[in-house]
Amino acid sequence: MKTWEELYDECASCEKCELHKTRTNCVFGVGNREADILFVGEAPGEREDLSGTPFVGRAGQLLDKFLFAVDISREDVYIANILKCRPPKNRDPKPDEEDACMDYLREQVRLIRPKMIVCLGRIAAQRLIDPNYRITKEHGQWVKKGDFLMTAVYHPALLLRDPRKKEEMLEDMKSIRAKLDELK
Ligand code: URA
Repeated sequence: MKTWEELYDECASCEKCELHKTRTNCVFGVGNREADILFVGEAPGEREDLSGTPFVGRAGQLLDKFLFAVDISREDVYIANILKCRPPKNRDPKPDEEDACMDYLREQVRLIRPKMIVCLGRIAAQRLIDPNYRITKEHGQWVKKGDFLMTAVYHPALLLRDPRKKEEMLEDMKSIRAKLDELK
């Protein structure tokens, strides 16, 4: 198994897909390396590419508010993305980019050994839970996959576009909080 440092260095110098040509920084992941919960988003946006840290832009600030609302602090969780490099103009990740990048996330999961994995949005849910995952229908439902309890919630960027979905997001976040308390 790789160490965190080896994995980070490999990721930071990765040239497995085209996205390395346009990245400013590899956005590896951030948070508690012994977290019970791993949140997985889609791909870095502009602010993330510039800073090297996931979920620091507007969507990230909204995610912070939902974490705060259910008394989960960023320091207690680990946050990563399916893709570690920003797709130009924030377009959706391409399947071959996801394939090229997935080993980094797999290694992160091996190192963290979280109890729960929470997918942020459709792209992560379809990659990690089920290729046919329907986020509108299935968000908030729990599934057991191998050693992990998994669920998906709306992507915070979607909530910025459609604030009416925030109520459902809060319910899902409460369910995550409750599950966390159950597992303690
Ligand atoms: N959206 C994501 O999916 N990930 C980030 O890191 C930022 C925005």
